[in-house]
Amino acid sequence: MFSILLALIALAAIIPFGPCSLAAAEDDERAAAFNNHCRNCHSFKAGDNRLGPSLHGVFGSPAGRVEGYRGYSGSLAGLIWDEANLDKFIASPAAVATNTTMIYPAVAEAAERAKIIEFLKTISRPEATSLGSPPSR
Ligand code: HEC
Repeated sequence: MFSILLALIALAAIIPFGPCSLAAAEDDERAAAFNNHCRNCHSFKAGDNRLGPSLHGVFGSPAGRVEGYRGYSGSLAGLIWDEANLDKFIASPAAVATNTTMIYPAVAEAAERAKIIEFLKTISRPEATSLGSPPSR
């Protein structure tokens, strides 16, 4: 009897954490999609340029403007990184910017691209200025 009571107390302690994990799992999936397809060349920390420019704050911003990044091809000029342009660019960089230096195995699945774009939105929020990991909601 006592052990059943203990089990119930333990269960009551665990349950409150249950519902949170759904949103967290979604965030994890988005971060994982970014890590799988983009992280080799892109960091999302401000100022951390690698083979590709830092993608911190990229959502909604004009293309080709990351300070300190020297690898631009010059063929991104005039683009704004909204949802439609990002989706096209990730699906096929050369279709959007003819001479782009972003040469990588493109992301063919629309659902996977959508996750990546959601992640890019998260790291573009104003509160995400100096971060080591994406902000939680
Ligand atoms: C093999 C390395 C590599 C991979 C992998 C890669 N990129 Fe890039 N990315 C680059 C390079 C290089 C550039 C500069 C392109 C240019 O100037 O034409 C770039 C540019 C960009 C830009 C334009 C940034 C700006 O400042 O205008 C975006 C947005 C972008 N990448 C998103 C992504 C996303 C999202 C992924 C994953 C789906 C990804 N990249 C994967 C190398 C890469």
